[in-house]
Amino acid sequence: MRVYRLHDFGLEHLRLEQTDPPKPGIGDVLLRVRAMSLNYRDLLVARGQYSKSIRLPGVPIADAAGEIVAIGPDVENVRVGDNVCTHYVAAWREGPFRAEYLKQTLGLPGPGVAAEYVALPAGAVVVPPAGYDHAQAATLPIAALTAWSALATEADVKPGQTVLTLGTGGVSIFALQIAKARGARVIVTSSSNGKLRRAVELGADATINYREHENWDAEVIRLTDGMGVDVTVETAGIATLERSLKATRANGIVAYMGALTGLTGPINTGLLMMKRQRICGILVDSRAAFEQMNDFLPRHRIAPVIDRRFPFEELPAALRYLETGSHFGKIVVEV
Ligand SMILES: NC(=O)c1ccc[n+]([C@@H]2O[C@H](COP(=O)([O-])OP(=O)(O)OC[C@H]3O[C@@H](n4cnc5c(N)ncnc54)[C@H](OP(=O)(O)O)[C@@H]3O)[C@@H](O)[C@H]2O)c1
Repeated sequence: MRVYRLHDFGLEHLRLEQTDPPKPGIGDVLLRVRAMSLNYRDLLVARGQYSKSIRLPGVPIADAAGEIVAIGPDVENVRVGDNVCTHYVAAWREGPFRAEYLKQTLGLPGPGVAAEYVALPAGAVVVPPAGYDHAQAATLPIAALTAWSALATEADVKPGQTVLTLGTGGVSIFALQIAKARGARVIVTSSSNGKLRRAVELGADATINYREHENWDAEVIRLTDGMGVDVTVETAGIATLERSLKATRANGIVAYMGALTGLTGPINTGLLMMKRQRICGILVDSRAAFEQMNDFLPRHRIAPVIDRRFPFEELPAALRYLETGSHFGKIVVEV
């Protein structure tokens, strides 16, 4: 079978190689990978910016969908022939998050999916929404579940509330779709007027070009009659956090998951106190939440937005395309 291995940090060290398919051990499934989707974290992993615990060579990429072609002993949740997608934090089944779950996240430091076949713990796969094909199912494990974690698990967004999303990448577009389906009003920011027009087609109620409006937080305040939004889905990172706090109402939530502009820097903590706001750290969600989301998405006719599909042989080109930030929604690699 063909497999991509990262031999050193840097996309130039990603090589397509031949090897024997793995055999599923106790509690494992063998997945025939049909589609992968790319996440910003895959770029951070490839660049050596994600985690100090990653040892190379290793197989990168976290999200995939495909069919189960073999199972090892003691596997009960799936059968040979089932179509599944991956669950990023395999050990997190339900309940509160625990730090030790992070040791085996998929796509390094845990097993990656950039291969024709991959052996995974049975807890690392989940049944996708009814009617989704492999490409659609592959978009869900990180991007959709992160948006769900912010809007459903943490903020419990309700009709009549207003949600702000930053940019038009994978997480943000799922956040737009999920927030609209929960009855919220959604304000979307982007660097591109063309992308903002596409966001309106998906249901965005108001849009702001953050390049044209450097003080985009003031625009958000204007669009919410001086109040600010109930929830901000903060995907952009430290450089935008202070504006996100300003754009969010008193007692509101900033769901923080972004690393696009970096992780460390100064913020005005006075804003947090004076508006009694909550910055809520988001790290995807549990398998139980994933199953709830997979029930919700087709009931609300949410179709993942796939910007572009690449063949397996072009994974490095697909990662470089992700790096340009010119996509809208998700990038899929078909195997
Ligand atoms: N903690 C978690 O569980 C978790 C899970 C998933 C993702 N994340 C993080 O969330 C972030 C987004 O991930 P993703 O996979 O959705 O990324 P992505 O698809 O690569 O999104 C990139 C988009 O973000 C927008 N952007 C970039 N800089 C921005 C800025 N300064 N202000 C506003 N928007 C900006 C741009 O949109 P426009 O072109 O429209 O301007 C860009 O196209 C990443 O930092 C990722 O690591 C965290």
